[in-house]
Amino acid sequence: MSTCIDCTALEAELRSTLSEKRLVHSLAVSQTCKELSFQYGEELDENILSACGLMHDMAREWDGQKLLSYAYDHSLVLEDEEWAYPVLLHAPVAADLLAKRGFPAQLCLAVRHHSLGSIAMGRMGLVLYLADYLEPNRSHLDKQIRQQLLKAPTLERLCLLVMEMEGQYLQKKGKVRAKVSQTLYEYVQGGGRL
Ligand SMILES: [Fe+2]
Ligand SMILES: [Fe+2]
Repeated sequence: MSTCIDCTALEAELRSTLSEKRLVHSLAVSQTCKELSFQYGEELDENILSACGLMHDMAREWDGQKLLSYAYDHSLVLEDEEWAYPVLLHAPVAADLLAKRGFPAQLCLAVRHHSLGSIAMGRMGLVLYLADYLEPNRSHLDKQIRQQLLKAPTLERLCLLVMEMEGQYLQKKGKVRAKVSQTLYEYVQGGGRL
């Protein structure tokens, strides 16, 4: 696939495959990806980044059985937590679908890790991971907290703040971070750059 992806066609595809709520989220993630990339001076291809935000949740409305079947049938390499909570499989399944359609590797890698985060997700993955959490329709964030978060001086610092908020949420629910997420958290906490 050339680097010129037809995002209008992707939007039309999502309009016919996703619920209205998920479509609105996907459009907002795509937009937020571009805003974050601009704000933090990332040199990411805007066209690829737009497509990445649009398509990241393309399999989010599949049921658990369909996701599990796809993962088995295509021998996806998965984290333990992804086998345990099949909803998490929407990320690696979407990444595999997109790779098979010829989308760029950095986009597929970003989509692969957008749920749990990973030190292997790349700069585009970092932007997508954060945009997914910060897009303005998200009910877990009020406008003020969002604005406060967006004052972070770097994407890594923003990632740390987001992961700390998410950590508090998980704690309230009596859950712990997935191993791959904890590794990311410790990496950015120690000053690591993706
Ligand atoms: Fe997702
Ligand atoms: Fe999402």
